[in-house]
Amino acid sequence: MIEIIGPLAHDAVTSAGKPLSLQRQLIERLQQAILGGRLPAGAWLPSSRLLAAELGVSRNTVVIAYDHLVAEGYVLADRKGTRVTSLSSPAAHADAQQEAAASEVAYAARLEPFAAIRPQREGASLLMPGTPALDRFPLAAWRRSLERAMEHALPHALGYGPAAGEPALRDAIAAHLRIARGVRCDGSQVVITEGAQESLNLCVRLLTNPGDIAWVEEPGYRGAKASFNLGDLKTVPMRVDPEGIAVPPDAWRVNPPKLIYTSPAHQYPTGAVLSVARRLELIAQARRAGAWLIEDDYDGEFRHTGEPIASMQGLVADAPVLYVGSFSKTMFPALRIGFVVLPRSMAAHTRVALQEMLRGGHRLDQLALAHFIEAGEFGRHLGRMRRLYRERQQALREALGVHFAPAQILGGHCGMHLTLRLPRHIADRALVERAEAQRLAPRALSSFALQPSDEDNGLVIGYGNTPAEQIAAAVSQLADMARELAAQRKSKR
Ligand SMILES: Cc1ncc(COP(=O)(O)O)c(C=O)c1O
Repeated sequence: MIEIIGPLAHDAVTSAGKPLSLQRQLIERLQQAILGGRLPAGAWLPSSRLLAAELGVSRNTVVIAYDHLVAEGYVLADRKGTRVTSLSSPAAHADAQQEAAASEVAYAARLEPFAAIRPQREGASLLMPGTPALDRFPLAAWRRSLERAMEHALPHALGYGPAAGEPALRDAIAAHLRIARGVRCDGSQVVITEGAQESLNLCVRLLTNPGDIAWVEEPGYRGAKASFNLGDLKTVPMRVDPEGIAVPPDAWRVNPPKLIYTSPAHQYPTGAVLSVARRLELIAQARRAGAWLIEDDYDGEFRHTGEPIASMQGLVADAPVLYVGSFSKTMFPALRIGFVVLPRSMAAHTRVALQEMLRGGHRLDQLALAHFIEAGEFGRHLGRMRRLYRERQQALREALGVHFAPAQILGGHCGMHLTLRLPRHIADRALVERAEAQRLAPRALSSFALQPSDEDNGLVIGYGNTPAEQIAAAVSQLADMARELAAQRKSKR
């Protein structure tokens, strides 16, 4: 046996320098011999007395090691003796290794759609789309709401919460959406999530099977595509024009969808507003096809021009629409609270499934948010932010007019970003890479498209978290970089 497992050392130490007991050494040596096939399945181990004599250790050391190997399933012990189990045969081990390698390949293939995405550089933040004005968040009022929740809801709010979220928050959201966004709902239809991304994942899990077709806007929100990819859906891009998502007439027959993702109030990232004719058509066709529309109203609260545009969900009764909202922009992203408003019939049917899938949680934050909304703080904050973002958008428009004239600027009816089309000779991804090195974080328009066209060359520029007085200088820097890129290209020709 000693040829198979080698001699044990009385003064052996671990890699951390701690003493390694004889029985631990023996256990590890026997495990390695079994996994490596030097002790094959069915092989008998010597009796504890014999092995103890051969290794020069106490019999008790061997008995303890054998007991341990029995407990872990490496060996079986009965009246006849101790033998290696078949589970740990080298063949099984090799098979397992092969299976692991195959599953690694399959897993890499599953994540392939993400491989082409260049990770964002940390630290760059000016002009970043999607981040609200963090330094203008009313911390004192939020602290009061948190303290109130702690005073009134402890200790029971430390326990598991209702799966769909705190009833007080669901009711407060429903009341707000009815008035502010024309959503037809009550609290029983609202499911609290950890943000729009989790809402999208939930829609996929509730409504689709692998292989189902999902339509996405092109260019469009990457988070939706990520969700659909991970649900093994077939993602079909639908071009966006100035009236929003444009569905070719034969698409319903050629690529019948189960899910359709849209951002009707302010298409992300082109800023198009989905026309009412297309909204009605989408609803009617989806109803006929048994498909579901996901309405992502990520920045509809910040309407800057004209009358508010009501939600698509509220346009007709019982529309097949799941309305997705988030507090990432209206409060702050780290809050990680969002929601999905289910159609009434779906809400009733999915109650049990949701109880199995969700665990509630973040109860104090949810209760504080309910209070923040009910006390009017949320409405006041939205009003202040609308005014601030209008100012910042104006500063950005002016700077783009000065430094990128004649600039084609898209969007801006809502939200916290503008999209600038770039001429073909300035590649948006190259410009974004340079900008990141200068701590500027606009996004490349082409990175939002599955099959980018010439039109999808541009910059998605956020103004939410960039003070108006810093915008002109940042845009001027961007314009310098764009000129350098254009000059480089010219000199290469
Ligand atoms: C189109 C769109 N929808 C939703 C969200 C919000 O996502 P979450 O609530 O997961 O932060 C974002 C964030 O950038 C977005 O761009």
